[in-house]
Amino acid sequence: MGKAIKIGLFGFGVVGQGLYDILEKSSGINAEVVKIAVKHKDKPRSLPKDYFTFEAQEVLLNKDIDLIVELIDDTDAAYNIIKSALQNGKNVVSANKKVLAEHFEEFIQLQLETGKSILYEASVCGGIPIIRTIEEYYISELLYSVKGIFNGSSNYILSKMQKEDISYEVALKQAQDLGFAESNPKLDVEGFDAKYKLVILAAHSFGLYIHPEEVFHYGISGISKFDIQYAKEKKLKIKLISSVFKNSENSISMYVIPEFVDKYSNLYLVEDEFNGVTVEGAFSDKQFFSGKGAGGHPTGSAVLSDIAANTYNYKYEYHKTQKELQYNYSSESVLRVYIRYGGDFNLESFFEQLLERYQNTTIQYVVGEIKLNRLNQLLSEFKTEIGFVCSLGDK
Ligand code: HSE
Repeated sequence: MGKAIKIGLFGFGVVGQGLYDILEKSSGINAEVVKIAVKHKDKPRSLPKDYFTFEAQEVLLNKDIDLIVELIDDTDAAYNIIKSALQNGKNVVSANKKVLAEHFEEFIQLQLETGKSILYEASVCGGIPIIRTIEEYYISELLYSVKGIFNGSSNYILSKMQKEDISYEVALKQAQDLGFAESNPKLDVEGFDAKYKLVILAAHSFGLYIHPEEVFHYGISGISKFDIQYAKEKKLKIKLISSVFKNSENSISMYVIPEFVDKYSNLYLVEDEFNGVTVEGAFSDKQFFSGKGAGGHPTGSAVLSDIAANTYNYKYEYHKTQKELQYNYSSESVLRVYIRYGGDFNLESFFEQLLERYQNTTIQYVVGEIKLNRLNQLLSEFKTEIGFVCSLGDK
């Protein structure tokens, strides 16, 4: 075996420790962590003190370090680390979906300028090798859609609520205790995390980069027992789904929204912290990938794979961005949605078509067809009146 790759690791949380553990146990790769940069000085840690530093520069400027592995959750710090690593001539492996989604184009440019690479398989759907699959396997395929469950914590919460009748608060606490949730769990349950992953996958699938702020997202924090009962009675399950799809010859739509899925969907059986991705192409038709989307070992295994890919100088080529067909982004797609709400206001005017209306003394909901941009307006104008929104699929 050749010279060991020397890794400078940033962060020693769930994924960092998972990676360390995997590297200890894995015989297939000649790599060692030589220094770990961490933030909190007083946290008890499982490795000797010499491993750790509180100075980022000590790792970034260390000439013995070949590769920077960035696994922290401070977005601004992560941005600076990635940028500085590339500028200091080091390749980077990152799991930081927020930073990648927000600075996607800048990072492509930086890779071109420095000749160095960023690999980030672990940033999307944990242990499912979806980025490299999209990038390499579907290189020439005309993709129609990429859709799935991209957030392990919210899927865990929904599974516990629907299968075991556990409350939202208790299920969220469990997802946090198991190390699935972000330090700010709002990112999971409000759909931000799933959106960052969607933005990254959409760029690789369709060559279209859209800043996360422009992408619609709606999460699961408003879900109630009534919504779950409504789904159960119709033999459906509620899942938080991210979708990007072609909605005409040259336009793409994308959004994150809870969706009622039936037993014929591959996503119906994706439970707990598992994620699932359905890729549909003109020639391959539908293909389905599933695996653990959160947790130290599954995510660490994706990081390991990127470290191994570095040994043979693998880089993303961003094939789809170079294709002649350039897509536009559209927020005009029409969704069929269920909206549970309170109060008395003219909700009807937001809809293209109202299909069902229900009201008793405590609950009211409507089902209808609504344009995505109108749904967005409705949610911002009547934030406090809207209880929960769930899609019944595209129209
Ligand atoms: N908080 C994320 C999730 C971790 O629950 O999916 C993996 O990206």
